Amino acid sequence: MREKLRIYGSARLEGEVAVSGGKNAAVAIIPAALLADSPSTIENVPDIDDVRVLLDMLRWLGAHVEFRENTVWIDPRTVDKFNPPYELAGRMRASYYLTPVLLGLFHRAEVPLPGGCDIGARPIDQTVKGMETLGASVETLGGVMVAKSDRMQGDDIFLDMPSVGATVNSMLTAVSAPGMTCIHNAAREPHIVDLANFLSSMGASVKGAGTDIIRIRGGRHLHGTDYTIVPDQIETGTLMIAAAAAGDDVIITGAIPTHMESLSAKLLEMGVHVSSEDDWIRVRSNRVYRAVNVKTQGYPGFPTDLQQPLSALLTVANGTSLVTETIFESRFRFLDELRKMGAKVRVIESSSAMITGVSHLVGARVNATDLRAGAAMIIAGLMAEGVTEIGGISYILRGYEHIDEKLTQLGAHIEHVRKEEAF
Ligand code: EPU
Repeated sequence: MREKLRIYGSARLEGEVAVSGGKNAAVAIIPAALLADSPSTIENVPDIDDVRVLLDMLRWLGAHVEFRENTVWIDPRTVDKFNPPYELAGRMRASYYLTPVLLGLFHRAEVPLPGGCDIGARPIDQTVKGMETLGASVETLGGVMVAKSDRMQGDDIFLDMPSVGATVNSMLTAVSAPGMTCIHNAAREPHIVDLANFLSSMGASVKGAGTDIIRIRGGRHLHGTDYTIVPDQIETGTLMIAAAAAGDDVIITGAIPTHMESLSAKLLEMGVHVSSEDDWIRVRSNRVYRAVNVKTQGYPGFPTDLQQPLSALLTVANGTSLVTETIFESRFRFLDELRKMGAKVRVIESSSAMITGVSHLVGARVNATDLRAGAAMIIAGLMAEGVTEIGGISYILRGYEHIDEKLTQLGAHIEHVRKEEAF
């Protein structure tokens, strides 16, 4: 039987909830720890399936790894392989962050092409361009990315678009390439800045992360470090939207409010009260919303990863909202699931959706079609009248740490059904 989440709708959320460490920061930082000549201790690592699979891959490569209470200890000195197996690498997107790391260590890497959420075409041409610019040869043989290089050298990399993955891979290549690398049109997401801070704490010279030009002087000796991962921007946003959808007064702690400005602005526009200080965000809602238009963009624009959760909330806003998805073309599939709950949505030309608010959603059996779609279904379930059962929750467990427990702590009524039930 499939695991599922069962949500009894209409409970009111109230109180405090803490944000976990960033998934997309952790999956970039953990491979980078292999570049050091001594162990690293990384704190605030989210205990999610993506992290566990990545750590298994490090163990397979020969590293000593321990993971306890959100702290990872990695000793890379025994790494002696450059070819992680498909069974592990194919299970997540970020496995290809190992390619530049293994290339730096062994001048050769053989990493199966990445998996991850099926949210549209996820090409890797910009990653390949970045590595080739710095002197590597990269080809795909039988579904495996094979990278080789005898001599790496810093250079200018011009990305065609500010891709998160290509920026991470270019940074991880550049730290091992002697000389200066400038990554132009770099992604500016908080997890890029976090990776840069981690690399700097290992002894690398990285400047400009968070702007669109990152400069790295490569070839330095890197040592192990103690580091704490940044709070998860997307989990913070998901909790903010859940609070707006089903909350009276919720405080989200351990967050970075400046990372959330594009979402806070949208929620305020919808009539939700958002305030913040230092490391917490307070969301107060009377559960009456104005429709708004949203267009996804790279940071500091509105994140594609929050498009689906916000769309769920817009299904009950007064009026019609236009949601435009510019990053991933298949991030509207989940709208079919929302329709089962009574939402009125229409997709126009595959990249835009019109959402006309209804008075309420009704609980139904639905599926998480990808990670953030799963978050959207949880939010819909919290708002709906009656019971919602969400299948496909392995997607959700890949990326959200204890999301059901966190919402339950706020007053939601959620059951994680793990066993076959008799009817
Ligand atoms: N693109 C290319 N060529 C490339 C790389 C990207 O054309 O070589 C295009 C993509 O098709 C897409 C756009 O550039 O249209 C942006 O893709 P990006 O490379 O930024 O995405 P990603 O690195 O594959 C990361 C996150 C995603 C998040 C996106 C956008 C990780 C592990 N994944 O993916 O996170 O949606 O950036 O911010 O960091 C999630 O957490 O649910 C998730 C999917």
